Amino acid sequence: MVAAVSEVVGADRLGVRFAPLFASTDETRVYLGLVEADPHHTYIEAIKVLEQAGIAYLSIAEADWDNAPDLPEPFYQAVRAEFSGRIIYAGKYTVQKSVDILSKGYGDLFAFGRPFIANPDLPERIANHWPLNEADPATMYGGTAIGYSDYPRYQE
Ligand SMILES: Cc1cc2nc3c(=O)[nH]c(=O)nc-3n(C[C@H](O)[C@H](O)[C@H](O)COP(=O)(O)O)c2cc1C
Repeated sequence: MVAAVSEVVGADRLGVRFAPLFASTDETRVYLGLVEADPHHTYIEAIKVLEQAGIAYLSIAEADWDNAPDLPEPFYQAVRAEFSGRIIYAGKYTVQKSVDILSKGYGDLFAFGRPFIANPDLPERIANHWPLNEADPATMYGGTAIGYSDYPRYQE
């Protein structure tokens, strides 16, 4: 699949997204029917193949629900060690966590999903240390403009 897409668009324009789940108990290793028996080796072996294929970036979606397990430090380290392209992380990221992961050298870019839905002026809010609106999960999967394009910009 990666080879086929690379042939058309070029590997230097191709990224792959993974959503590794490092659960602490056997019960939580299964998510939406997906069984993560050995996520470290599963994803690191896949990343080695992608490194060989020369893709431009990896996009790693961390578990993003309340009390979701964090990625283990050795996993961040191994991703960086095995992949020479850009690495993007997402999933409940805050500015503080982005700076932390950046300063450890594990990631290059950090993506914000729900904070962007709820804050049309997110970069300005971050730059100015303004408070953020909370995103309402009830309006995230369809419906009307409510919760889609009506979150207010910051007003002093
Ligand atoms: C409404 C909604 C739809 C999403 N759809 C997708 C999707 O289709 N594919 C995907 O890889 N991630 C999807 N995500 C996950 C986001 O890309 C991102 O990883 C997640 O929101 C965590 O970042 P956040 O905590 O900053 O929101 C979705 C998230 C939300 C809230």
